[in-house]
Amino acid sequence: MDVVVLVSGRGSNLRAICSAIDAGTCHANIVGVVSDRKKAAALEFAEGRGIPTRVVSLRKGDDRNAWNDSLTAEVASLEPDLVVLAGFMRVLGAPLLERFPGRIINVHPALLPSFPGHSGPQDALDGGVRVSGCTVHIVDTGVDTGPILAQAAVPVLADDTVDTLHSRIQVQEHRLLPRVIHQIAIGAITLDPLTMSTPVADPTLSLSVPDI
Ligand code: GAR
Repeated sequence: MDVVVLVSGRGSNLRAICSAIDAGTCHANIVGVVSDRKKAAALEFAEGRGIPTRVVSLRKGDDRNAWNDSLTAEVASLEPDLVVLAGFMRVLGAPLLERFPGRIINVHPALLPSFPGHSGPQDALDGGVRVSGCTVHIVDTGVDTGPILAQAAVPVLADDTVDTLHSRIQVQEHRLLPRVIHQIAIGAITLDPLTMSTPVADPTLSLSVPDI
């Protein structure tokens, strides 16, 4: 299964996918990494691995429709079977969603539908929840609203900061995202592009919260 990974930043999830591919536990082939930020560390990592990279920047005042069209053209030129948003901090427009219906997934650092958006760990702390985690879901036209494929939970500790909570969540992201990609690759998770109905996820993908 050919995969294009969209990134904006550090790329720890991209590294986790690559590690799982190297370990033989994720049967996917990354055919390209596309970023909206030229300086994303994820790009440097991808280039180091010989993965083709593309940058489609969006600056203040830029035409958003033109950006959506360019992003779609770049991703489509790589001919992926699946598009993975791994720390891509932009909302996708209709062109990419229509080009890959039901074939775009995202990892989010909270237990959706709670705390969608750009600051999942901060919002979980502000909300006073005792459990948070990460979610892998199909991308639809909303912000982090698409059908949920898998989730992993982590405790929120009394002395957590945004960084400590996010780090604990990322440990689970790095396990969950490559596993979901693998499950899609082997057909254990079925994405239905016609109905976008909630797919049947492997129950072993979800993790329980340790006792605290
Ligand atoms: C990840 O924690 C991901 O869940 C989050 O950005 C981080 C990227 O880390 N994404 C979002 O918040 C999207 N709403 P990485 O660049 O090290 O993979």
